[in-house]
Amino acid sequence: MVSLAQCLGDIPGDSSKTESVMAFIVFEGLDGSGKSTLIQKLHTLLESSGEDVVLTREPGGTPLAEDIRHLLLRTKGEAPVPTAELLLYEAARAQHVESRIRPSLEQNKWVLCDRFYGSTLAFQCGGRSIDRSLVDQLNCIATGGMKPDLWVLLDLSLEESLRRRNSRDARGEKPLDRFEKEANDFHVKVRDYYLKLANEDIENWLVLNAEASPEQLFNELQQRMRARGWLKL
Ligand code: TMP
Repeated sequence: MVSLAQCLGDIPGDSSKTESVMAFIVFEGLDGSGKSTLIQKLHTLLESSGEDVVLTREPGGTPLAEDIRHLLLRTKGEAPVPTAELLLYEAARAQHVESRIRPSLEQNKWVLCDRFYGSTLAFQCGGRSIDRSLVDQLNCIATGGMKPDLWVLLDLSLEESLRRRNSRDARGEKPLDRFEKEANDFHVKVRDYYLKLANEDIENWLVLNAEASPEQLFNELQQRMRARGWLKL
């Protein structure tokens, strides 16, 4: 485990990376922003080029972290207070990074992850107004300082997110989870915080307008990946 001082210092995020071309890419956004479709498209492309790809998600990605996910998202039973919620996300992340993400990167696999600590910053700092430096410290502890190579933000207006969520709900595809039941104001704060994070680090955040077609979104993602030398064609 890295010390907190190391973690918060100027150490490179992922010391396990080698020269081979692979990357750790995280997809973020409001619910209904189309992350899964984009992840699937990239997965198919990479696999068809013979790449080894791990698809994973947060909270979750390992059996224990999936159990924690259930506790976090269920709508029945006792809801966690904001501090407990934060610590549960971080516990799930520590398990996920150490037992799944880091070993996969060490084996030179691509890792495509649906949400990572960007969600904690957006939902817990932005949505719940928890102190940023506290969350940064916990993220450091949980990840051992590991950072993704690219964050992809699927930016969506609250109105469109609500429309997509309600139509999914009406079709009975997915019942609303604890976060989807939050007030509109919460989701506006989450979106604003995502945009703030992306503005703070434009080199490592790709912001896509999630109202564009899946093909257009995928093209923009591929362009950025080519610019990084991750895709040959
Ligand atoms: P999803 O995987 O279906 O998007 O649901 C995960 C929910 O958990 C989503 O509403 C975002 C929220 N979340 C946080 O609040 N903090 C976090 O650190 C993570 C990873 C997710």
